[in-house]
Amino acid sequence: MNKQLLEKITEKFKELYGVEPLLIRAPGRINLIGEHTDYNEGYVLPCAVSPAIYFAMSNREDGKVCLNSYDYGSYCEFKIDQKDRPKEQWASYLYGITQIIQEKGYKISGFNCVFGGDVPVGAGMSSSAALESGLCLGISQLNNLNLDKMEMAKIGQRSEHEYVGVKCGIMDQFASIFGKQNHCVRLDCRSLKYEYSKLEMKDYIFVLTDSKVKHSLASSEYNTRREECAAGVKAIQTKFPNINSLRDATIEQLNAVVGEITDTVYNRCKYVIEEDSRVIEACNALNNNDLVKFGNLLYLSHNGLSKMYEVSCKELDFLVDQTKKMDYILGSRMMGGGFGGCTLSLIKADKLQEYKSVIAPLYKEKFGIECKFYAATAEDGTALV
Ligand code: GLA
Repeated sequence: MNKQLLEKITEKFKELYGVEPLLIRAPGRINLIGEHTDYNEGYVLPCAVSPAIYFAMSNREDGKVCLNSYDYGSYCEFKIDQKDRPKEQWASYLYGITQIIQEKGYKISGFNCVFGGDVPVGAGMSSSAALESGLCLGISQLNNLNLDKMEMAKIGQRSEHEYVGVKCGIMDQFASIFGKQNHCVRLDCRSLKYEYSKLEMKDYIFVLTDSKVKHSLASSEYNTRREECAAGVKAIQTKFPNINSLRDATIEQLNAVVGEITDTVYNRCKYVIEEDSRVIEACNALNNNDLVKFGNLLYLSHNGLSKMYEVSCKELDFLVDQTKKMDYILGSRMMGGGFGGCTLSLIKADKLQEYKSVIAPLYKEKFGIECKFYAATAEDGTALV
C-alpha cells in the first residue's frame, strides 16, 4: 500500500470537495503464464501486484461526474446520463464504466473522484484495468449496488471493448479484482471458475524488467491476433463442428486443416493451443515446487510469443536472451499483450542486485535506454481502504 500517495490523494480530494471520501485501492497485475489465451477461452495465471491506483470518491446531488487525475493534473466533467463521450482520451475508460453500469439498468448518482497511482503506464501491468476496477467498485459502493466481483470484471472488460476499442480478454480486470496476497490465481476463461495457489518459491522471486518501449502496434495488432484465432477456429469447425474456441482444439485437429489456413493463422493457433497446456503444466510444477520446470515453461512461452504469435519485439527478445546466460535465473518471458512493456523473470532472490547491475548496462549499450525493475509480489485485489 502506497500510504503516502493515498494521503496526498485524500488531501487533494478534501481540498476540492470538503468532505470525507470513500477510499479504494485497485492494483495492476502480472501474469505468470498463459498469454493471449484468455480471449481463446483458455487458462491464465495472474496475480494482482503492489503498484495500484487509488481513488477518493463521494456522491454529488447534481448529476455531474467530476474526475480529477492527480498524476496528470487533468480534469474532466460530464453529466452522468450524457450520451456524448468526453473529449479527454484518458476519461474514456471511466466514462465507459459509468455508461455500462447504467445500461445494465442500475440507477447511479453523479460523483466526485480524485484518482492517482503508481502503476507504470505502458509497462504492461494493466493500469487501465486498475482504473476500471477501482471506479466500478467505487460506484457500486456509493450507490449500494452490491455488484459482484465477476460482474465488475466484465463491466471493465466491456468498457475497454466499447469505449477504448481494444477487444481484450477478461484476464486483466479479473486479476485486478480477484488478486490475493501471496497467491496466483488460475482462471478458466471459459467457465470463469478459478483456483488460488500459494506462491511458495523457496529462495526465488519474480522480477519485472521494464523495456521502457511501447510500440504503437500494440492495440491494432492485438485485435488482429483475435481475428486470426477466430479464422483458425472457423476452419477447424468445418471438420470438427463441436469446436467453439481454440481451448477445445488439439494440435491434431489444427493439423487436419493446415491446407485451408495461412501459415500465419496456423502459427497463431498452434501457439495458443500449446500455451494452454503450458498453464496446466506450470500449475502442476508450482504445486510440486518444481521451479526449474516452471522456469523452462516461461522460456517456452516466450519462444512461442516471439516466433509464432509474433507479439514480442527486439528489446524484449534481448532481455529474455540475456537471462539464458545467468544460472541464477530459471526462466523469463515477455508479459502481457506485447510489443513492449516488461519481461517477467524467475530469479534467485539474493542475485537480484547482480542481475540488475549486469542487465542495465547491457540494455543501455544495445538500445540506448535505461530499463527499470519492479519486484513482482502478489497482493490483494481491488478493495475499500
Ligand atoms: C492484454 C489484454 C488481456 C490479455 C493479454 C495477453 O493485457 O488486456 O486480456 O489478452 O493482453 O495475455
